Amino acid sequence: MNIILLGPPGAGKGTQAARLVEDRDMIQLSTGDMLREARTSGTEMGKKVAAVMDRGELVTDEIVIGLIREKLEGPEKGGFIFDGFPRTLAQADALEALMAEMGKKLDCAIELRVRDEVLVDRIVNRAKEAAAAGKPVRADDNEESLKVRLMEYYKKTSPLLGYYHAKDKLKRVDGLAEMAVVEASIKAILDS
Ligand code: AP5
Repeated sequence: MNIILLGPPGAGKGTQAARLVEDRDMIQLSTGDMLREARTSGTEMGKKVAAVMDRGELVTDEIVIGLIREKLEGPEKGGFIFDGFPRTLAQADALEALMAEMGKKLDCAIELRVRDEVLVDRIVNRAKEAAAAGKPVRADDNEESLKVRLMEYYKKTSPLLGYYHAKDKLKRVDGLAEMAVVEASIKAILDS
């Protein structure tokens, strides 16, 4: 199965994708992780996107579509989980075209429904926990960047809910529930 996890920053996309990788042998395609990796390894592209990411803004469609194209050409295993992609209507159209070109199909887009207040707490806590454990803190995990990330989500990504609804591919789960409950809800959708 090929699925999209949709939701604002801190909704739990990465957490749930990791559980599906573990349990269902799926492949997580996180454009956020790919971009952070490019920054760490100091590629030209990584340097180009660093400031944009730190401010909480979206990087260009062209860059992320290129990253996804490369990964789709790789092994498929139990299917792809798109985590943090697509984030704009142009990216959604590009994904559809890429999948068609490669003879693959998207099964569903799962929205993790949450409330903004909870997201702020989750992100601030994630930063505190990383710092306490001596791990690197994401440069965009602060209240100022989070405001921008949320606004980017509402302006540019939330229209995808209508897009996938119109294609009869949108499913919803309560992202405020305990992680194990969210996981069970997602698996129930995959098994239905
Ligand atoms: P990206 O890395 O995708 O970040 P994001 O969407 O802001 O998402 P997060 O990773 O913060 O949250 P998440 O939903 O994965 O939640 P998580 O599971 O970590 O993007 C970063 C940047 O890269 C963007 O701002 C942009 O600049 C660029 N970018 C990336 N993709 C792009 C694209 N396609 N186009 C353009 N630009 C792009 O959970 C968060 C915390 O909550 C964790 O501490 C977790 O333990 C906790 N938690 C999770 N679930 C629960 C639960 N059910 N109950 C309690 N706590 C929970």
